Formats: sequence, C-alpha cells, structure tokens
Amino acid sequence: MSYRVIVEPTGEVIEVEEDQTILQAALRQGVWLPFACGHGTCATCKCDLVEGYVDHGDASPFALMDMERDEGKILVCCAKPESDLVIEADIDVDPDFKGYQVGDYSGEITAITDLTPTIKELVLKIDRPMQFQAGQYINLDLPGIDGSRAFSIANTPAADTEIRLQVRQVPEGAATGYIHEKLQVGEVLTPSGPYGQFFVRKSDVKDVIFIAGGSGLSSPESMILDLLENGDSRKIYLFHGVRNVSELYHDELFKELADKHENFVYIPALNEPEADDNWQGFKGFVHEAAIAYFDGKFAGHKAYLCGPSPMIDAAITALMQGRLFEKDIHMEKFLTAADGADGEQRSALFKRI
Ligand SMILES: Cc1cc2nc3c(=O)[nH]c(=O)nc-3n(C[C@H](O)[C@H](O)[C@H](O)COP(=O)(O)OP(=O)(O)OC[C@H]3O[C@@H](n4cnc5c(N)ncnc54)[C@H](O)[C@@H]3O)c2cc1C
Ligand code: FES
Repeated sequence: MSYRVIVEPTGEVIEVEEDQTILQAALRQGVWLPFACGHGTCATCKCDLVEGYVDHGDASPFALMDMERDEGKILVCCAKPESDLVIEADIDVDPDFKGYQVGDYSGEITAITDLTPTIKELVLKIDRPMQFQAGQYINLDLPGIDGSRAFSIANTPAADTEIRLQVRQVPEGAATGYIHEKLQVGEVLTPSGPYGQFFVRKSDVKDVIFIAGGSGLSSPESMILDLLENGDSRKIYLFHGVRNVSELYHDELFKELADKHENFVYIPALNEPEADDNWQGFKGFVHEAAIAYFDGKFAGHKAYLCGPSPMIDAAITALMQGRLFEKDIHMEKFLTAADGADGEQRSALFKRI
C-alpha cells in the first residue's frame, strides 16, 4: 500500500509506502525537501499540508506545536501519510548543494578505535559507492534500538566505499552506548545517506572559519581534508574545543596539515586542562579562542560550526557580535533525544538553518 504525495510549488509527485515518512520517500526518489535533524526536533522540514491526512509520528511538541498542527503544518521527517496528499514546501536550494540521492546501504564494521575516553572512530566498508558532499551525515540503525541516529562522515568523498565516524558516548544514550560497549568488528549495519545541508559553499571564496566541539570535529575534518586535497587556496582556520588533553584527538594530523599548508591554521582550545596536561595552548572555550585570534572581528569570513548546542549558540553570539551575519554562518547541531524533549530548536538568533 502506498500514497501519492504532490509537492508544491514544483508539482513533483512521490509515492510514499505505508511505513515511510514523506522525507524518506522523497529523498529516495530524488525529490529534495529542506531538512536538518531528520527526527522531529529542529523544525527545518516544516511544510504546509494543503490536502489530506497524516500521522505526525514522533514530531516533538516544541518543533511542531499543537496550534501549528491545527493550522495544517507538518514535519515531513516524521509525518506518514494516511491518504493521498498535497504539501507545500519552502524549497530554496543552495547553488552549492549537489543533491546526491539518498540510498540504503549495507556496511561492515572493519575497525573500531578509541580516539579519546569518550569518542570512538568506526570504519564501515559499504557495499557500493556513496556519493556525498564533505560535511554531510548518515543515519545508522543499530540492533534492538528504535529509530536511526545521525552521525557525520569524517572522511572525504574521495573514499566513496568507506565511511569513518567519530562517535561520542552520550550518558544513558542507547545507540552510542551500543556502539561503545557492544559493537564488534565484522558486524554489518545498515546506514542510509547522504543527508544534510552542512557543506562548504565553495562558490563563495571568502576565507573559512571552522569551530568544532568534541566529536563535532567529524564534519570539519572531512570538509578541511577535502579543501586541502583539492588544492583550495582560501585561508582555512580550525578551532577545536575539548575539555582536556585526553579528549583532544587528531591533534598531530592537524598540526602536520598546518605545517604543510600555508593557508591552514589550527588552534585547539582546552576549557578544563588537567594540571599534568602541561597545556601551553589556548585555555578557555573554543569560541573564546576564535575571539582571541580574530580580536573579535569576523567580517569577511564564512563560518562553519559543528558540535553540541551550547557550543554552537556561544559561537553564533561571538560571530554575530563580531559582525558576521546569518548568511555566512552554517552549522550542524549534534542534537540528541534529550534536546527534543527539552524543547531544543534552531537557535533563536536564526530564522532558518
Ligand atoms: C545531523 C547530526 C549529525 C551528528 N553527527 C554526530 C557525530 O558525527 N558524532 C557524534 O558523536 N554525534 C553526532 N550527532 C549526535 C548523535 O546523533 C547523538 O549523540 C545520538 O543520536 C545519541 O543517540 P543515543 O541513542 O546514544 O542517545 P539517545 O537514546 O537518543 O538519548 C540521548 C540522551 O537523551 C536522553 N533521552 C532519551 N530520550 C529522552 C526523552 N524522551 N526525554 C528526555 N531525555 C531523553 C537519554 O537519556 C540520553 O541522555 C549528530 C547529530 C545530528 C543531528
Ligand atoms: S528535519 Fe524534521 S524536524 Fe528536523
């Protein structure tokens, strides 16, 4: 059983299977709809339901309020049709977005490495090449765990049958708990992707500032390696914030890249170094490191922020106070189920991601 969904204003038609969300079906049929978190917490995928009926699924009451449901709003990442539908989406495709079609893959775990006490790197060998843009993410299903979880791809698109992930264990987290405590080399998982709007706007040649927190280094790592491997000459700054030396990873890799590439600057920041860390680098939060480096003036750059919500919100405030505006700030917030329950949404400073 499937339902027919007409997407206005383009008039494209998709077939949505009974157990699919509108977004799952659209992306697999090459119809792009705006979205970010993919699981009902960020509200980026909000559309108008013009005709028909849906089950709102797991839409968070904060991302889709009761009043909005009554007004005919839906979140396409959660909504499943209960009849044929007409929906209206705000489709505004970025010229740098390549729109690679989402696919379902089988991926064997070929390596699991401890990067820090709380972050593991996984390598998945997938059954066929996946085209993606550096910075995008996959959704991963794990055995016995309801729903899929988003993880950003840390390698560059050049390795198209390999996916590297950097996964932080979330306290009480079901999926990241499984990955850290049970997952074995040789296990086969079912990733789908690529997803997301976090990629370098290469057509804009402004210098770029990456601000990453913890395992939020994953996307910037892919984006920076991609830029440098392709000989991009713009100036690239990476600020990576972690708590202490034991949580700092790929430090050597980025130091070597900074030595090799004149246009790359790497600044790690520790906000709680241990006494025996003997830390000589920047002490403080990562946005403070960026403020110190740029003397609080960010105009003329593009910024890409990746990591937990508090880090991103602090970085947005710093960047905007330093005269960088919304159109030049892009972000990937590592939202979890707790954020959805707390009413976490897009930054109040932003109308849309
Ligand atoms: C686009 C995107 C890309 C991401 N990329 C990465 C990445 O590269 N690396 C990375 O480490 N992380 C990344 N994340 C974050 C990652 O997806 C989450 O950490 C992961 O989904 C957590 O899953 P979990 O099952 O372990 O935790 P969950 O079980 O989802 O729970 C998370 C927390 O919320 C609590 N919780 C669960 N349900 C509820 C509820 N109903 N009410 C209140 N609290 C609740 C849990 O107790 C736990 O503390 C990304 C997130 C997004 C959106
Ligand atoms: S993409 Fe649907 S709520 Fe985030």
